[in-house]
Amino acid sequence: MRTSSKRLTCAIRPAYFAVVVAVVVVAWMCVFTLVYNNTFQALHRPRFGYSTPPPWTATVSNITHTTFQPTLTGQNHSIRERASVHKPASVDGRSPFVSGTTSSYCKLPTPDGVVLPRNTQYLEQCSSSSPTISVPAAGKKKKVILVYNRPSWMMITDSGDKTFKRCGLEDACIMTNDRRTLHTADAVFINAQHLNFPYPFEAVTNSTRRRPPQQMWVAFSIEPPPLMPQSVRGWENVFNWTMTYRRDSDIFVPYGKLSLRTEAALPARNFTQLALNKTKPVAWFVSNCVTQSAREAYVKELSKYIQVDVYGKCGKLSCVQKDRDCSGMLSSTYFFYLSFENSLCVDYVTEKLFNLYGSADVIPVTRGGVKYDEVFPANTLINTANFKSPRHLANHLHDLMGDLQTYTAMLRAKHRFMLRKNELHEQLGHGFCKLCRMLHDGDRTQARRVYPDFRHWVHKNACLRPKDL
Ligand SMILES: *[C@@H]1O[C@H](CO)[C@@H](O)[C@H](O)[C@H]1NC(C)=O
Ligand SMILES: *[C@@H]1O[C@H](CO)[C@@H](O)[C@H](O)[C@H]1NC(C)=O
Ligand SMILES: *[C@@H]1O[C@H](CO)[C@@H](O)[C@H](O)[C@H]1NC(C)=O
Ligand SMILES: *[C@@H]1O[C@H](CO)[C@@H](O)[C@H](O)[C@H]1NC(C)=O
Ligand SMILES: *[C@@H]1O[C@H](CO)[C@@H](O)[C@H](O)[C@H]1NC(C)=O
Ligand SMILES: *[C@@H]1O[C@H](CO)[C@@H](O)[C@H](O)[C@H]1NC(C)=O
Repeated sequence: MRTSSKRLTCAIRPAYFAVVVAVVVVAWMCVFTLVYNNTFQALHRPRFGYSTPPPWTATVSNITHTTFQPTLTGQNHSIRERASVHKPASVDGRSPFVSGTTSSYCKLPTPDGVVLPRNTQYLEQCSSSSPTISVPAAGKKKKVILVYNRPSWMMITDSGDKTFKRCGLEDACIMTNDRRTLHTADAVFINAQHLNFPYPFEAVTNSTRRRPPQQMWVAFSIEPPPLMPQSVRGWENVFNWTMTYRRDSDIFVPYGKLSLRTEAALPARNFTQLALNKTKPVAWFVSNCVTQSAREAYVKELSKYIQVDVYGKCGKLSCVQKDRDCSGMLSSTYFFYLSFENSLCVDYVTEKLFNLYGSADVIPVTRGGVKYDEVFPANTLINTANFKSPRHLANHLHDLMGDLQTYTAMLRAKHRFMLRKNELHEQLGHGFCKLCRMLHDGDRTQARRVYPDFRHWVHKNACLRPKDL
């Protein structure tokens, strides 16, 4: 009896020991995780604080926005594709305002059936430049922003007065394109698509040696890296801030932001009837026929399995409509339209998608380098990245055309979002306002920054080669 109980104890002890060790290990891991997250990461937070999303605390108290109905302009508009500049490694965190006084993050009250995108940076109500900003104390000198080489499409007036007025900063900043201010301006804005611009480029880089210590140089681009200069020698240690569509830019300027429609602003639609009226599967508007993304090859393959009507320079069809973007024709005729970017680059999603997303009752099929499933509500578009091949995609599209209920649910969900006209300029305006605020806040350590190797920032891990062909 005694011996057997002793043997039993001997057998139990190693088991006990193992349990105790396991408990200690698990406990240690928990403590480590907590300590790591709270302390270690806080200590090692990047100097500029961009990659750590702030907690979702603030709420937008009252959502107000103007309703936007696509207007009929009576002019012929073809869908213009910007064949143009720029780059990416993105941070998933939301980029906080450096100098805004209010938090730019929000939790929106979500009406039934509305799914918000996971990343709210592209939601107007969540991340727009807040109207409540700290206007610099009266009497403070206006900051001068020298727009050194203005992009030709930029419609902002020379002094930027309207832009700054819209965000209440008319007494805070002024723009100029007078290059004689190069040695006195508070900021020098460079359109980085033309870093090898035809002006005496050495004079600019030379001047950076004599620049005032507080002068900030801003590299701007809305173009993807394949359309950026591949070599930007001489621009090392020049730029302090970046202003691009990339989310890890110091000043994030997306091509557009979605806006959640209020219940009251929802135009009535019979989506069932709308879907029943549609007769054709897929439309594609395109003017740039050979691209980094090789979308033309993807479409060629896709069209073996489903009819794709190609409009524009690269196809046989053309759309001449009263509405600005043929959205009426698309809405009444097509189930899907292709929104394929010319480059597969991080965060690169252009007005091609934003424009029609907000104005046409047709489901976009997207292909690009942005994480569409985070940026847009998942049930409102179809992302080619989720399909093994063009053939698999085509099968899915056929299925949806036969499943009216699912299809109309997608249309309905998409309809909850809208976009303003001319979104890029709107966002650019916000960008300049943010720049203005950052300049006034210049002494704050979080605003200090230098890009030692701008080329690296533009091109490193910026774009993917197509893998779906
Ligand atoms: C929000 O709107 C309601 C109703 O219009 C109003 O009573 C309330 O004061 C508003 N709240 C804020 C913070 O503006
Ligand atoms: C629109 O296109 C039609 C047909 O090509 C042309 O006759 C008309 O002049 C154009 N209108 C404008 C405003 O360009
Ligand atoms: C740049 O600076 C160097 C040395 O100071 C000078 O020799 C050269 O002429 C300058 N170039 C221009 C274009 O100003
Ligand atoms: C929408 O259209 C469908 C098909 O024509 C019809 O059966 C339905 O009653 C309509 N719904 C509304 C609310 O008008
Ligand atoms: C569907 O087509 C019919 C006939 O062309 C038209 O009268 C009706 O307005 C269309 N309905 C919708 C919702 O587009
Ligand atoms: C801006 O960049 C210049 C050149 O690298 C640097 O000397 C300066 O300290 C930077 N300014 C700030 C505020 O980071």
